[in-house]
Amino acid sequence: MNENEKLEAELLLQAIYQKYGYDFRSYAKASIRRRIKKHQAVSGFASISAMQHELIHNEQFFTTLLKELTVNVTEMFRDPDYFFSFRNQVIPVLAEKDHIQIWHAGCASGEEVYSMAIMLEEEGLAGRYRIYATDTCSEALNVAREGIYPVAIMQEGSVNYQKAGGRRSLSEYYTAHYDHVVMADRLKANLVFSEHNLVTDAVFSEMDCVVCRNVLIYFSRVLQDRVFKLFYDALPGGGFLFLGSKEHVRFSNLADKFVKVCGNEKIFKKVG
Ligand SMILES: C[S@@+](CC[C@H](N)C(=O)[O-])C[C@H]1O[C@@H](n2cnc3c(N)ncnc32)[C@H](O)[C@@H]1O
Repeated sequence: MNENEKLEAELLLQAIYQKYGYDFRSYAKASIRRRIKKHQAVSGFASISAMQHELIHNEQFFTTLLKELTVNVTEMFRDPDYFFSFRNQVIPVLAEKDHIQIWHAGCASGEEVYSMAIMLEEEGLAGRYRIYATDTCSEALNVAREGIYPVAIMQEGSVNYQKAGGRRSLSEYYTAHYDHVVMADRLKANLVFSEHNLVTDAVFSEMDCVVCRNVLIYFSRVLQDRVFKLFYDALPGGGFLFLGSKEHVRFSNLADKFVKVCGNEKIFKKVG
């Protein structure tokens, strides 16, 4: 991207913020610029500036651009080693509590949330936990609430579930209908999905765990610091923070407030 295009991209993000209230201005520059360019190419505009008019006057156009900018990619039991560590190193600690509260920030279409609910049920914690699962993308949240997924994703999901130490068959947690599956109502009963923006909204307090995986990689350092402060405030001493494989608290100004819990997995505990 040349200097003029960089300026056009900044102005586009400014327009999104002023018109629709979504603030992407502090996201990591290289990645957000790449996504803007991709959307320009896919939607056939001659320049980023040419998209500006459509963005301001056509909300539907904004909705499709929003999906491009937020990156809703997720999977069932993504990074099975992480779920294995969650089961073996974190759940035994959580099991000492009567009621467990988990905030899943940036949950996309919910596969990761259902994966965690399955683990908690298998470890005997059904009915003793609540997961507050949030995202900025309302379309992704609608999918998550319904818990309806293409049957094809369950193949890899099932392999990962076994690698994560699954004790049953993954098919016990959904009903299959031709080309799609519907996640079990007993799992949904413990899940609350709602819109929440990590850039602009306030904290969810008194959580035992905060899960925010593969979200912070899209944020600038300054924005990551804001979000780490939210997570710090959400957790009591000893509360758990889960990040994605490419994310770390080390780079934050709250680095000394968290300690790593286990080897390669990005599972941290708040000090104190
Ligand atoms: C790549 S997905 C990660 C999904 C899931 N956590 C996982 O690891 O499989 C990133 C998610 O972060 C969400 N997101 C991006 N910016 C956000 C923000 N400011 N506040 C809340 N969620 C955000 C996106 O909408 C998207 O669903």
